[in-house]
Amino acid sequence: MTKAWKKSDWRAKPRIQMPDYPDASAVAAVEAQLSKYPPLVFAGEARKLKAALGAAAKGEAFLLQGGDCAESFQEFSADNIRDTFKVMLQMAIVLTWGAKVPVVKVGRMAGQFAKPRSAPTEMVGGIELPSYRGDIINGFEGTPEARIPDPNRMLQAYTQAAASLNLLRAFSTGGYADIHRVQSWMAGFIEEPAAANYRNIAQRIEDALDFMTAAGVTSATAHELSSVDFYTSHEALLLEYEEALCRIDSTTGVPVAGSGHMIWIGDRTRQTDGAHVEFCRGVQNPIGLKCGPSTTAEDLKVLMAKLNPENEPGRLTLIARFGAGKVGDHLPRLIRTVEAEGAKVLWSCDPMHGNTIKAASGYKTRPFESVLREVREFFQIHKAEGTIPGGVHFEMTGKDVTECTGGVRAVTDENLSDRYHTACDPRLNASQALELAFLVAEELNDRRRLSRAAGF
Ligand code: PEP
Ligand code: CO
Repeated sequence: MTKAWKKSDWRAKPRIQMPDYPDASAVAAVEAQLSKYPPLVFAGEARKLKAALGAAAKGEAFLLQGGDCAESFQEFSADNIRDTFKVMLQMAIVLTWGAKVPVVKVGRMAGQFAKPRSAPTEMVGGIELPSYRGDIINGFEGTPEARIPDPNRMLQAYTQAAASLNLLRAFSTGGYADIHRVQSWMAGFIEEPAAANYRNIAQRIEDALDFMTAAGVTSATAHELSSVDFYTSHEALLLEYEEALCRIDSTTGVPVAGSGHMIWIGDRTRQTDGAHVEFCRGVQNPIGLKCGPSTTAEDLKVLMAKLNPENEPGRLTLIARFGAGKVGDHLPRLIRTVEAEGAKVLWSCDPMHGNTIKAASGYKTRPFESVLREVREFFQIHKAEGTIPGGVHFEMTGKDVTECTGGVRAVTDENLSDRYHTACDPRLNASQALELAFLVAEELNDRRRLSRAAGF
């Protein structure tokens, strides 16, 4: 008999990428408070998402996961949430159009606050400071005081996540996401040809809706037309926060992470015997696992066995993030490992984290061309291996920022300083995000033709 999993078991494992809080009693007080707060999400919702991801793993749906690299306290506003939500709706329309399957919408939102860092310190304005680890841990401001980890930030993060989720739920079901409003989700600054292509699809959808109305199918009779399912996700990095929001699901008696619908394990914290894997294996939510170039077949086997011992569809999403030009070196060997194990996983592509470079101007950026190229390689390799490319994972915003270079209205190295607002990694702006959605839609159209030809 293996001993029953406890939500605090991770504490016996090596503590990496988490802050050393100077005041243990202050941490304990925050944990005690958070443990009494309501969970942000409910187990039934996490199970519904798991079923949807299970369908995506079989090619019967497609995962669109996106949002901020790091949510910030300062950038928190209804407009920012609405704009990201809106561009995700637009992308989902474009993808549904290409794939002709439901698009599962998952925001990197309402909890995406903690960041792993490549070094414990960083240079800010010529002085060496402890690295910024996300607003849930310390402050972005470049002073030694701001960089001291403060557990009270967990309470502010919880409050912001609760308010964000409240708004997202309202947008999802309160009329904003009604498909009849498909034209109105368009932001003014979307570039051509993506804008024209989108308007074209929207027009065709409106024609179809007019036909359906004439046939008696309206938002009032078919609620699928008037609302969407929208889920939240974040990296489960700060385990004090995750543990404090972990609950026992009253329906099944199984633990559930109450911090978000889906949680993922980052590329830096996926040690097979590490704290993060230990926590995630015990909760019933869908789990994402980032797979970078250093992922070995041996580790992947162990991780799949630990994280999905029942081989449950939709439980495990492998998020490939190798970098353009490197997908061919790694994805085939990992796909073959999965197939040899007979493991049921959903393959998703994160074309962001393997493509970060430093521009001559000093800004961290991502060339849009590299992002596109990694997505294409991901689809090509799945086609060659006969497996299913089931989702994409982007860092993006609904705002007109200048953080990634390229795109139709080429953002140049010199432009980066114009509207560089991210608290961490560079995000696609709304125009680049939509452009990318069209590329993925083309690939999905191809996937659909293939499976049709194969008689599925
Ligand atoms: C992230 O998703 O923001 C991140 C840090 O990713 P990775 O763990 O893949 O580097
Ligand atoms: Co990031």
